Amino acid sequence: MAPQKTEAFRLDGKVALITGAAKGLGAGIAVMLARQGADIAISDKPGTSLSETERQARTFGHRVLPFELDVRDPSNWAAQKAAIRNKLGIIGILVNNAGINRPAPGLQLTESEWDDHFATNARGGFFLAQQIAPEMMEQRWGRVIWISSQSGLVGVPGQPAYCSSKGAVVQLVRTLVEWAKHGITVNSVAPTFVETDLTRERLRRPEFLQFVLNKIPAGELATAEDVAAAVSFLASEEARMVNCHNLCVDGGWTAW
Ligand SMILES: NC(=O)c1ccc[n+]([C@@H]2O[C@H](COP(=O)([O-])OP(=O)(O)OC[C@H]3O[C@@H](n4cnc5c(N)ncnc54)[C@H](O)[C@@H]3O)[C@@H](O)[C@H]2O)c1
Repeated sequence: MAPQKTEAFRLDGKVALITGAAKGLGAGIAVMLARQGADIAISDKPGTSLSETERQARTFGHRVLPFELDVRDPSNWAAQKAAIRNKLGIIGILVNNAGINRPAPGLQLTESEWDDHFATNARGGFFLAQQIAPEMMEQRWGRVIWISSQSGLVGVPGQPAYCSSKGAVVQLVRTLVEWAKHGITVNSVAPTFVETDLTRERLRRPEFLQFVLNKIPAGELATAEDVAAAVSFLASEEARMVNCHNLCVDGGWTAW
């Protein structure tokens, strides 16, 4: 075999947009993609500081552009896409990470909570991808990566809105096979529990933590780095034939 010119899984020369990048998994993904060589546009809800993610990502020497983007509100996306194009170039990698989970059992779940979960976790990422995909098609290269959840595959008590919105993401990823002929892959990463602001309060309850650990054959929680590594792989050239896939980073939870 001829020697390879570049290191495997590098993202040099690529531009990535990550939503919900201020903290938690989004911050970990942003830093990992910068480490792998990408220039990154990092975004989060208006009024949310991205400075810590920006600081960490800049240590790898690539360009970092922080900006506000509420995934529920597409009104500014065309202008924001143009600004990213001017400053960094055409977006080749879109990571739909922004998400919410406010558990409420079936009898208490309100319509507005249902709508907010779907708007944030499923609808926003779809219309953002729809906005960005045409430029990926022009380049004949693109990666759309969602952070779904193991909760899109198995039920978790008390979370009907969250689980069904994540199930919607798993199906969306399969449906967007229609973009494959344009050189775009669409995949998702489905983590098990990672300790972040989204889960910390629940994981502090010893009985809940025990329930979770009993369900994970690996016997431990996942980390933001575990999730970011899976995203980085799916973003890479080497993953070009991995499409419409939901990659579980769940220590085996969903296998049994
Ligand atoms: N932590 C876990 O155990 C876990 C497991 C499976 C999946 N996930 C998924 O991973 C993603 C990240 O979760 P996390 O644990 O890092 O949560 P987090 O709460 O720590 O971070 C979520 C980020 O998304 C941002 N966000 C929320 N609503 C937004 C909106 N409307 N527009 C733009 N940004 C918005 C928040 O401001 C925050 O910065 C979510 O999609 C979540 O469902 C998390």
